[in-house]
Order: sequence, then C-alpha cells, then structure tokens
Amino acid sequence: MGLELTSEEKMMLDGKHGKATRKAMEIITTLGEIYGAKRLIPVSSVQIAGVSYHNLGEAGLEYLKEMAEDGRTKVLTTLNPAGMDLEEWKKHGISEDFAKNQQRVVDIFEKMGVVTTCTCTPYLIGNLPHYGEHIAWAESSAVCFSNSVIGALTNREGGPSALASSLTGRTAEYGLHLQENRIAEVKYEVQSKLTKPYDFGLLGYVIGERTGRTIPYITGISKATTEDLKSFSASVATYGGVALFHMEGITPNRTTIPTKTELVTEDDLNRVRIQLDDKEVDIDFISIGCPHASIKEIGRIAEMLDGKKVADGKTVWITTAKPTKDIAMKMGYYDKIEKAGAFLVADACCAVAPLKGKFKGLMTDSAKACFYARGKNNFKTEIRTVEECIQEAIS
Ligand code: F3S
Repeated sequence: MGLELTSEEKMMLDGKHGKATRKAMEIITTLGEIYGAKRLIPVSSVQIAGVSYHNLGEAGLEYLKEMAEDGRTKVLTTLNPAGMDLEEWKKHGISEDFAKNQQRVVDIFEKMGVVTTCTCTPYLIGNLPHYGEHIAWAESSAVCFSNSVIGALTNREGGPSALASSLTGRTAEYGLHLQENRIAEVKYEVQSKLTKPYDFGLLGYVIGERTGRTIPYITGISKATTEDLKSFSASVATYGGVALFHMEGITPNRTTIPTKTELVTEDDLNRVRIQLDDKEVDIDFISIGCPHASIKEIGRIAEMLDGKKVADGKTVWITTAKPTKDIAMKMGYYDKIEKAGAFLVADACCAVAPLKGKFKGLMTDSAKACFYARGKNNFKTEIRTVEECIQEAIS
C-alpha cells in the first residue's frame, strides 16, 4: 500500500492552498514515497538550516523568494545560524555587500512567518519540543540533541524539506518517526572520566567515527550537563552521522540494550585530541560557542575575561543566539567580554560566516568547529578547554 493522504493533504498537493504549499507537499510526498511511508503526520516545530548567504548564494535565495510569494509557516519555525551577527556585523569585519545579501535571506524567511533568531540551539531559546513530539528539524547537532536528550522525534532534514514541513505542518512518517527505528544497536562502555563539554566533544568524535549511522547505547557516564550533551550531540553527528543516541541514566531511552559491547578508553580520547591538533599552528582566531553558547557558558567566559585584554593580532568570537546575547547584555556579561576586546557574536558561527582567508589558525573547545574550520576555511586547528582558549586569547 502506498502513501495515503487525508483530504486536506490532497488539497495542499492539488494547489488549493497556494503554489508554495503545493511545492512543499510535493517534496514531502516524494520523500514519503522514496522511504516507504504509509502516511503523513503533523509536526509541531521546525528548524531550518542553510541560512547563511555564504552557503545559499543567489540560486538558494531565488528558491526562497519563490516559496515566499504565497508560502506561510504553519508551525513554530526557527533558523540555523546566518553568516553574520544581524546587528553588529560591521565591527566583525563583514562586508557591506555580504550583509546586504544576508539580510535579504533573513527578510524572506521573516515574510514567511519564520522566527528569525538564527541559532543551532533553538531548544535553549524557546523552540523546545517535549518528549514524544514529532518535529522536523535540520541542523545535525540539534537533531541529535532533540531525538536523544529531549526524546522528540525527527529525521535529519535538509533545508528544503524542513521548509516544506514548516509550510504544510506535515512530514512523512518514516525513519526516526517510527519507534522500531529508534532501538540501540551497539553498546559503548565509556571507561574514561569526562568533566567538561570539551571531553564530551572528544567522546562524540570517538563514538561517531566508530558507529557511523548505527544507534549507540552509551554506558559509564554518571553525570552530564545540558552543555555537555549539546557538545556531544554536535560531535557524534559530525564525525559519524548519528541522529539519535541513548545514554544510560541520562537520556529518556525507550530501547533494548544491545549485547555487542565496545570499550572507549582514555587512550581513544587522547588519540582524537591529537588528531585535532595541527602542527606549528599560528593561532590568530579563537572561537567558542559551537554549538551556540548557553547563558551559563557566557557567564563563565565573562568572568574569565573580566579586566583582561585580548592580545594584539588575535580575534575572539563567542557565538550564541540573539535572545541569549540580550540576556548577557542585561547581566553585564556582554560589557565584560567586549571591554576585553573579544566579541559576543549573535546569529552566526565560525563555520558559516565568510571567514575564509581571514585567519590562519583556530583554537576552539569544539571538535565540530575543528572539522569545519579545516574543511571549509582551510584553517589549521588546535582543540583546548574553554579556560585554555581564553588563556591563549589574552597571552
Ligand atoms: Fe552550530 Fe555552527 Fe557549530 S551551526 S553546531 S556553531 S558549526
């Protein structure tokens, strides 16, 4: 039996709800047919990726323009990072030309009814689904976090399919929307002590690389903060393509426990730490906040930078969501950071901003940021804890 549609869904597909909704429905039903879905299901939240003009270019912008002619969001929809801080871009060295084009992208999303906070941690700023809720999110780290930590259900959407879900309020029921596809397949017993988000990022690298797309069940971790889990989610999704993990005693698992067990040791973590360190790196860029920093992380960084000065020849970005930056301003964290000569950058990140050629070496606490800095920007990288990154910035 093929994909069955309700009468309302048929009307959407027939163009009764406008051109953009018809196109969106075509995308969703095509995916449903490819993956053998029997029906479409409502989604309550959408996260769209592919927002930076740097990645979209004119072709992407044209597509969005067409969809925005009569397309309007049906559910809460937020955006992934753009290529710049939408307000303070000038002082970060972004060109007028790029800023104009990036703003065009954001305006189009706004016209469609998208909440134009540009962040990869939408769950920290109000786009927070609950356990068991069906959603359609793009952005691999947020997908992994929402499936695993929150227990919401989403496939790893691309930009166009997430937008299509936003304009129709639907997704096709396949993949991780079905409980039978959410069962852990390999158990990883962690024997190393983890104390910081940075350690969780390294662990994500080790497990991601080994497990690929196989769903891991992780044991041996007694405690993890939200920041630890966002770091782990980003890393395990980047280095392995994992969209769901189970962590014993930490995440809300509905799974059997696999018998096949692999060990993760201190040596494994050290090996990837060494791999993320290039030789003879001239560090001129320090970036923290991948995924976007929480207010707790920004508060700690502000204390570390209070009364200090960023050294000549070094640029420091702390990247976060705009609502979090607003709280940081209210709390005085923004002033402490900026007075030291570092930048609290909202809406953007070091991977999607147009930074190629601007720096030589990146120091970061994020394994995912290292991956993109090397692959997209040709930067050399060094991975360190947040404390070490700040020390490097001021020395
Ligand atoms: Fe977010 Fe950019 Fe990192 S989108 S997860 S800060 S690469």
